[in-house]
Amino acid sequence: MKIDIFTLFPEWFGWFSEQRHITNLRASGSRIDCVNFREHTPLSAGQVDDMPFGGGAGMVLRVDVLDSALRARYGIDPVELRAGRRVIALAPGGRLLDDSLVDELAREEELTLLCGRYEGFDERIIEHFASDVVSIGRYVLSGGELAAMVLCDAVMRKLPGALGDERSAEEESFSAALEGNPEYPHYTRPAEYRGWPVPEVLLSGHHAKIESWRREQSRERAERLNQESAGR
Ligand code: ADE
Repeated sequence: MKIDIFTLFPEWFGWFSEQRHITNLRASGSRIDCVNFREHTPLSAGQVDDMPFGGGAGMVLRVDVLDSALRARYGIDPVELRAGRRVIALAPGGRLLDDSLVDELAREEELTLLCGRYEGFDERIIEHFASDVVSIGRYVLSGGELAAMVLCDAVMRKLPGALGDERSAEEESFSAALEGNPEYPHYTRPAEYRGWPVPEVLLSGHHAKIESWRREQSRERAERLNQESAGR
């Protein structure tokens, strides 16, 4: 998979790109490339944002700046871009990132991520260049970079070769294998610690029973989560 990240802070992604699952993938041809759109601004003094028409606090990323950065990277009018690849703007009001969206994105060969700053994007960037607007939660971050990193991490760990054991990404929280429920609890040695025993069934060696205990735990966790959300 090849991911291009349009950001004013490319250095944030240096650390992320060096993490084991990402280096595993990069060794087999995957890439994360950052484009600093300040380097492509047609405006003087590296300007990328401006005051909102109609007034209000904060600054807004300019559409002409994103136009020229996307054009420089792909060599086509960015209006055409989303016909051939997902161009994802990260913003708090977008479609919530969940396991099924992560699966959907993990099937793409190439992704473009646009990281907003300040008050966000001029709406014409969303209307004319983006194929998707994605949010990692209903709270406001100071920019799209952390959201882009979360998205990359969640998507890339699903790709073959990222994790040591392929099964790690199959049966985990919110996956189809667990009917969309949170994952069951895990235990390791010691089998007893400070009088806290590991559930008997896990030591029984009885695979069918272990399997059904895990499913049950996973469903119970889902119920608890639902109750917690409903109680809010
Ligand atoms: N940019 C700022 N806040 C965000 C959020 N919650 N999700 C995605 N992008 C964002």
